[in-house]
Amino acid sequence: MKRKLFHLILAATMTIGLLTGCGGNANSSQSTSTSANNAAGGATESNANDGAAAAPENNTADGGVQVGIVLPTKDEPRWLQDQAQFESILGDAGFTNQVLFSQGSSATEKTNVETLISQGIQVLVICAQDGTAAAAAVEEAKDAGVTVIAYDRLITETQAVDYYVTFDSFAVGAAQGQYLVDNAPDGTGIPLYLYAGAATDNNAFIFFEGAWSVLQPKIADGTFVIVNSSEAAALQDKVELSRDEEGKIIGQITTDWDFNVAKSKAEAHLTAAGSDMKGDVLVLAPNDGTSRSIADVFASDKDITSYVITGQDSEKASVQYIIDGKQSMTVFKDTRTLAADSVAMTVSILNGETPATDTTYNNNAKEVPAKQTDIVVVTKDNVKSALIDSEYYDASEFTGLE
Ligand code: BGC
Repeated sequence: MKRKLFHLILAATMTIGLLTGCGGNANSSQSTSTSANNAAGGATESNANDGAAAAPENNTADGGVQVGIVLPTKDEPRWLQDQAQFESILGDAGFTNQVLFSQGSSATEKTNVETLISQGIQVLVICAQDGTAAAAAVEEAKDAGVTVIAYDRLITETQAVDYYVTFDSFAVGAAQGQYLVDNAPDGTGIPLYLYAGAATDNNAFIFFEGAWSVLQPKIADGTFVIVNSSEAAALQDKVELSRDEEGKIIGQITTDWDFNVAKSKAEAHLTAAGSDMKGDVLVLAPNDGTSRSIADVFASDKDITSYVITGQDSEKASVQYIIDGKQSMTVFKDTRTLAADSVAMTVSILNGETPATDTTYNNNAKEVPAKQTDIVVVTKDNVKSALIDSEYYDASEFTGLE
């Protein structure tokens, strides 16, 4: 299927050997980190010049921070996984670095970027709180001579993004949709509840687009019936949605990536739903945190006989939910690879080379060279091979794992 503006549009380019995947547990820290809280919602600083040959010399003026990392929030386990990987991999690679969290605020994010600029960073790796609002912050970094890598979430409407490191977000949404199709009960008219991420996150659009590409034919032919979005129902015959159309749907079904919003929306939807929209149902939940919230609501409704529900991120709590049969699937996005790709890019940049990329993303201002990583669907059947055997988690972190 053809992907539109903001989405993956071009494949190919260079294949240069990148740093190989790093072993170790997502929750362990192998770096020489010290922790320090700051006004910006907490910072963790790692100083590491003891390591790998790959790192160029620390040539910041005062021996300051070479690489600044800004992540959206500490309140979602997803981003703590990324923090752990950065501290481990950047430390091993011998970079001085600092990780700052924006705690859901674009203003804090901008302050964080300014703090890092003042510390002399040469490379900024940033996962934007709000993809459009972050443009101002990265433009400041660019003006200060910093190379900007958008991490996981694309920053839009600006020339000031040099590179993008991401998972294949379309594939994430398509995998979620496909799981619902493959695991739907028999028959037609099966109730489908739709939920999405935050409208400020470009990924939310791509995830939804991926899911829609698989779900739409089943909605159009009457196999599934949308319960909770009049906008999606009105567009059910459209194979490809415009950004505006997606925006209208997401406006109705957004969780804002917030567990509490997800919970109260699910409660309201089930309160409003007639008994014909209950029984055996399907739920498109955009990520693990929202999935657990929504799953708890559906599980406690006596008129819901069974539900199939999606997720993504392989958060530890959701892996336990999957083992316990409370969440149906998650999408494993190996943060070790994403952090390693960012560090490989950083090494190239600081060595004055052009980093390896394999695609581009249009951010509505330029084609941003990107490095994209594949995803893995995880269900009860492959938790062990995908997450334990790969040493992402340790078996002892779960109960009931066979
Ligand atoms: C990320 C997801 C994450 C979500 C909420 C998205 O941009 O790709 O992995 O669950 O944000 O933080």
